[in-house]
Amino acid sequence: MDIRKITDVAAKLGIAFPTAEVYGGYAGFYDWGPVGTELKNNVKRSWWKEFVHASHEVVGLDGSIITNPEVWKASGHVEHFHDPITVCKKCGKRYRADHLIEEATGKSAEGKPPEEMSEAIRKLGVKCPECGGELGDVVLFNLMFSTQVGPYEGSLSYLRPETAQLIFVNFPRLYQIARKRMPLGIAQVGKAFRNEISPRNFLFRLREFEQMEIEFFFDPEDDKCPYYEKVKDYEALVLTAEMQERGEREKAMKVSEAVPDIPGREWVVYWIVRSLEWFEKIGVRKDLLRVREQLPEERAHYSEGTWDVEFYFGSMGWKEIEGIAHRGTYDLRRHSEHAGKPFEAVRSDGTKFTPMVVEPSWGVDRVVLALLFSAYDEDGKRKLFRFRPAVAPYTVAVFPLVSKDGLPEKAWELYMSLLDSGINAVYDEKGSIGRRYRRQDEVGTPWCITVDHQSLEDNTVTIRDRDSMEQVRVPATEVVEWIRKRMKD
Ligand code: GAP
Repeated sequence: MDIRKITDVAAKLGIAFPTAEVYGGYAGFYDWGPVGTELKNNVKRSWWKEFVHASHEVVGLDGSIITNPEVWKASGHVEHFHDPITVCKKCGKRYRADHLIEEATGKSAEGKPPEEMSEAIRKLGVKCPECGGELGDVVLFNLMFSTQVGPYEGSLSYLRPETAQLIFVNFPRLYQIARKRMPLGIAQVGKAFRNEISPRNFLFRLREFEQMEIEFFFDPEDDKCPYYEKVKDYEALVLTAEMQERGEREKAMKVSEAVPDIPGREWVVYWIVRSLEWFEKIGVRKDLLRVREQLPEERAHYSEGTWDVEFYFGSMGWKEIEGIAHRGTYDLRRHSEHAGKPFEAVRSDGTKFTPMVVEPSWGVDRVVLALLFSAYDEDGKRKLFRFRPAVAPYTVAVFPLVSKDGLPEKAWELYMSLLDSGINAVYDEKGSIGRRYRRQDEVGTPWCITVDHQSLEDNTVTIRDRDSMEQVRVPATEVVEWIRKRMKD
């Protein structure tokens, strides 16, 4: 499917659309409408339930978006968080140099030194896509948004480019609060900001986006994962760095076979597999997911090894929706050096150590985009999203068959009882019943309940299933239980 199609459908249905459209939008910034807000909140809720509430080792944090700028010096973001940029000598437009080279060659140029990219642009004869002008030498551009804090000149700070650093700087306190538990996972969901050179592809490359991250700290001398038996045989499409060097394609294999013998290897496998299981659970198509090991030159400055979970976005090809990075002891060591304080944990024998970190990091917007691609379907006359009930924007819609004869009052009563029970329901009495079904199919509502004349006689209602379009009659008093049972399936 083409990204433009999903972009149009999403805008029309009130999922997400360019911010401030009346002023021509603003590149890299989107607003979420009523349907999209529900969908995105459901994704975040499901993630928190799965990885925080249902994970014995993991606790939550909500750190600030702007923090002491020393954090970004210590983390290496001031020095290293760059993308390569080239400027058109004729029209002044700026481009991400590696993307232009990738478009010209079909091969990734991520992480190549600027001189090599300047040379490649010259040799390949790449010109400005806008005006055909000559492109300048490639230089590095820092992606952090800076801001001034308070009314003082020079009080420069940054909007966080990742949520992770708030977890690292708070490690000494959080470790104490967690009663010196090790391994310890700290999770956070929140906004991140990057001054992307060329934001594009709808929700894929944004300047303001959301992350769901876990920093999972463990003792390198005690790095066994107690759940390893459960995950070691899990198979997925995998593309290792070696396979890429040999020019091979992804193939189905055990994830555990793709991770080399490094400290915390079992935890890396565990987090990759748990991520894949969760993707499947919320309805991201497994056949469109693969795990790709990043090539050494692609890795972020802190990474000792990174495995991306990529989704096949039709016209856009395979793209990262989650990264699982082995950050070693990099961040805690850097903060310890810069703050002049210990960032350590202690073993039962009293010896101290710097914990290592495995970091699974999901982009909320990209997960939602993968869900939109996975769930969209055209079935005869119907255009619909086949969302799983757990993430569907609305769980159920309630309609009176006609808006007279006391049916609206009865339908409203049922609607209120669903809301009282915590089920996200909508009420609609406008237009023909067929059109109302179509409207709910479009936004992916799994069930529609209709109150008809028989309901007045025997207190039953019909429940229509979005996917099969079959209807069953259920006593109104049993509707809540009926829905709850299917939400669990
Ligand atoms: N803390 C690690 C980290 O930030 P990353 O690979 O740069 O690693 C993690 O980002 C995830 O955040 C990505 O897998 C992606 O889903 C999301 N992400 C990164 N940049 C993004 C952007 N410009 N727009 C939307 N999502 C983005």
